[in-house]
Amino acid sequence: MKIRYNEAMNITELIKYRKSVRSWADKPVDTETVEKIIDAARFAPSANNLQDWRVIAITESALRAKMVEIARGQKFVGEAPVILVICGDSSTGEMSCKMPRSVIDATILIDHITLIAAGEGLGTCWIGSFDQEACRKLLRIPGGWEVVELLPLGYPASPSPVNKPRKRVSEVLNWNLWDGSL
Ligand SMILES: Cc1cc2nc3c(=O)[nH]c(=O)nc-3n(C[C@H](O)[C@H](O)[C@H](O)COP(=O)(O)O)c2cc1C
Repeated sequence: MKIRYNEAMNITELIKYRKSVRSWADKPVDTETVEKIIDAARFAPSANNLQDWRVIAITESALRAKMVEIARGQKFVGEAPVILVICGDSSTGEMSCKMPRSVIDATILIDHITLIAAGEGLGTCWIGSFDQEACRKLLRIPGGWEVVELLPLGYPASPSPVNKPRKRVSEVLNWNLWDGSL
């Protein structure tokens, strides 16, 4: 399935359109655009409305080059004009369900960012393959904060990378009981 971007997409269309981008047009992303994306993304829900996240936007070229090493050699990360580093405040601990607040909250924020960026005609790619300690050291991230994910951001080189296959609804949705026996 190949869905083409258009500015009038509704949210469902945008979700189906968004896909990981790993090659970038030679076009800068201006400060206002980054701020516009984060301005909208900060309306994401968070546990107890703690908003226990922080985003570092890396634009400086020497730092971006170092981020390639941190992202275990993924060159396209450093080729993006902006690398967003999404951090979570781990001191907010776990919810009673035993899930970590900051990781869940940051993950929601990241998903908002990817969709808002897609709506602005920009591409992103979630990066979970990176060296946590080296990243914290390089960016001088204080104790208690963790890097949840990296997100290179830029205008896609090609208008519409191919969609990856998805599981069928019946493979991901169970009604009532896990085994659907009710
Ligand atoms: C938590 C997470 C970590 C990921 N880490 C990487 C990564 O390190 N490198 C990469 O190229 N893609 C990474 N991806 C992108 C996935 O490969 C991609 O989302 C998946 O194949 C579906 O493709 P799509 O995003 O184009 O729909 C990651 C995605 C998620 C959600």
